[in-house]
Amino acid sequence: MSLSPGRRLADPCVRRGVRKRYQKVHNRIPKIPVRNDSLPFLLKIIAEIGENNYNLEELETLGKNGSKKVKTVLHFQMPGRLIMGGGTLKELPRIIQQLGKNNPLIVTDTGIVEAGICERIKAVLENENIEVGCFDKVEPDPRIEIVYDCLEVAKAKSYDVLIGLGGGSSLDITKVVSILLTNSGDISGYFGIDKIPEAGMDTILIPTTAGTGSEATPIAVLSDKKEHLKKGIVSDKLYPKVALIDPELTTSLPANITAYTGIDALTHSIEAYTNKYSQPFVDTFALESIRLIGANLRKAVSNGKDIEARYNMSLASLYGGMCLGPVNTAGVHALAYPLGGTFDVPHGIANSLLLPYVMEFNLPANPEKYAKIASALGEDIRGLSLNEAAQRSVDAVVQLSRNVVIISRMRDLNILADAIDDMAIAAMKVTRLLNNNPREITLEDAKQIYKNAY
Ligand SMILES: [Fe+2]
Repeated sequence: MSLSPGRRLADPCVRRGVRKRYQKVHNRIPKIPVRNDSLPFLLKIIAEIGENNYNLEELETLGKNGSKKVKTVLHFQMPGRLIMGGGTLKELPRIIQQLGKNNPLIVTDTGIVEAGICERIKAVLENENIEVGCFDKVEPDPRIEIVYDCLEVAKAKSYDVLIGLGGGSSLDITKVVSILLTNSGDISGYFGIDKIPEAGMDTILIPTTAGTGSEATPIAVLSDKKEHLKKGIVSDKLYPKVALIDPELTTSLPANITAYTGIDALTHSIEAYTNKYSQPFVDTFALESIRLIGANLRKAVSNGKDIEARYNMSLASLYGGMCLGPVNTAGVHALAYPLGGTFDVPHGIANSLLLPYVMEFNLPANPEKYAKIASALGEDIRGLSLNEAAQRSVDAVVQLSRNVVIISRMRDLNILADAIDDMAIAAMKVTRLLNNNPREITLEDAKQIYKNAY
């Protein structure tokens, strides 16, 4: 609720001199809703940047309790088209025709081929006289080299649309290959944010897991084995033309992958919701995603054929993915990358190992939001102090992980404790994500978080 200026200024705690300065600043940002309880933070802005020196574009205003920063500018983008529902796979031929294409290349992995999903799709397309090629060499947490292997196949014939089919790895490879087909530069020039000049070949992304939300993100992540790091490309050129989400495709997913990918989705949503640059718009999807995961991940793991749980997990993953474009992830993902880059720990497992410990570290930065996460995960926080309620979010995540994930400590993955220092140094390089964390993580903090997770 935003209050009228009259009511805001009637706040009895506003001293006369402060009221003038408050009004002066607020008059220059009239479109930003300001709450009565926002005053302390606004005054802090005045004190920090002076009345005349602030930059409207960079200006941050306050969150619900007047002490948390909220980025005022929201940039939100989606796939060109979003199609979701059980059995929507059969719409694929029509979608391809509507795009004016007739020569698709499927980009996937051998697991999808062995599960018969690739053949199903081929049959659906060939029924409509659409011939289809297939590249099935995508690996988990793929190396940069896989992009070039796929690029070679994509160039060999006159394919006109790429279909990414599988988990986040296949979807990410599809995105990157699409832009390399139309841009002449080397991939190394595209790592980072907004570095791709031209739109890529059209893509249709079809997830078969419920975790990465990659079908709705402008992000692709690849493993650089030389630097032992995961590297990200972030660009609106990576959004697909169509995201087709058919939860029936996830019913054959093994329980362990359901668990790890589900925790990855939970991590996306928690890191978006508690992000330093969180947005009310993003918060809505993030919190609902957290609620859906709390209510459905155990069911999807214990009975993969539970189509309602599968649908809800696909939805939660999609919501989580939608949050990543505007605000992206934070400390958990930054610290998880060295685990994947150095020790090939699958992304979802790395996140599940670190999530509770990074949350615990972050609690003081925004206990209100962590209390809401606890509630969304089904915890009864009535009668608890704010800090107790916030702590319940960590307890709930630990409990959920224990219920669905087998590995709970880093040491169980044969990672030597000696590696912690190097991992912390590597994590500190992931500044694009560390900058989003609600609490600053120093090198020493990173070491301690790894030790706690060990
Ligand atoms: Fe992730």
